[in-house]
Amino acid sequence: MKRISLLLTGLLLAGAAFAAPDWSKVPARKMTLFYPGQAGLEWVMNKPDHSAVPDIVDKKRSCAKCHEGDAGEIGDKIVAGKPVGSSKTVLENEPQNGKAGYIPVSFQAVHDDKKIYFRFEWEAPKSVAAKKVDPKNEIKLAMMFDGGGTVEGAELNGCWGTCHMDLRTMKNAKDDKKTKYIKGADLASGKFMDLIQFKSGKGEKPVDGYVDGERHMEGGKSLVKAEGKKEGGKWIVSFERMLAGVGKGDHGIVEGKLYNFGFAIHDDYANARHHYVSLGYIFGLDKPMADVKNYINVVKQ
Ligand code: HEC
Repeated sequence: MKRISLLLTGLLLAGAAFAAPDWSKVPARKMTLFYPGQAGLEWVMNKPDHSAVPDIVDKKRSCAKCHEGDAGEIGDKIVAGKPVGSSKTVLENEPQNGKAGYIPVSFQAVHDDKKIYFRFEWEAPKSVAAKKVDPKNEIKLAMMFDGGGTVEGAELNGCWGTCHMDLRTMKNAKDDKKTKYIKGADLASGKFMDLIQFKSGKGEKPVDGYVDGERHMEGGKSLVKAEGKKEGGKWIVSFERMLAGVGKGDHGIVEGKLYNFGFAIHDDYANARHHYVSLGYIFGLDKPMADVKNYINVVKQ
């Protein structure tokens, strides 16, 4: 009997050592994901459209610095097809009646010796889609991060370096297959965004890809798990990923570097550019930086 209980204790301990993180001990960061319409890199970096360009270029002001407070309002205007920016541009030519302009998301991240874990939680906005554009997936959540300052501008704009006006479904699209890309990307030197995605559809596999000169939806091997569930009206999605960069397009995550990231949610069976996006954020391992507001210190558990 004693032997059995010892054996059981041993098993329980071993289980605990490999268990998922205790999220109740991880601080949550509120982030507002907003509906960007066709506000691609070339629009946000064009001064006649967006008066902030000199502040971004010369003073290195991040999008988050100016827009954490009004991201929700921006999303409300764009999704309704209202004109925005100094040029009063309509950034959504197919306004969707009643679609929420933004989603407040609660973000958490933690790591152990081998892995990093990300968790996202939000209330699903009211469903208004007249058509299920991606009929398989009620939601998709994608996250992109660079290799620790390896993508120029990502420390200010997060994912915007991949979002261009000539992508499919954007205004200047010439090619309906063109997806995200980074100008001057280079896999060898780390100038690319790692990309992981959860899809809610039954039997759908998690995506572990990357964005260099084009978007790749495979190649990575560092993503261990992507899970999601809807509880009541609330979505909870989590990723479990090796810290080591194992496959093609996988950045290694090490102490001492600052990783620029952003994430996006497709909800209500949406596809392509019809998503909500975060501003650019930064994470690092066990490195407090209280003075940088869009920084998340990922501590060890
Ligand atoms: C220095 C502050 C500042 C920074 C940094 C900044 N913006 Fe803006 N942004 C503004 C202001 C002010 C407006 C209002 C229109 C204008 O003056 O161009 C605006 C307008 C916008 C709009 C249109 C919505 C509206 O209400 O007019 C979008 C979209 C936007 N910004 C996105 C971004 C992104 C993406 C970044 C980072 C690449 C960014 N902004 C960086 C200040 C800033």
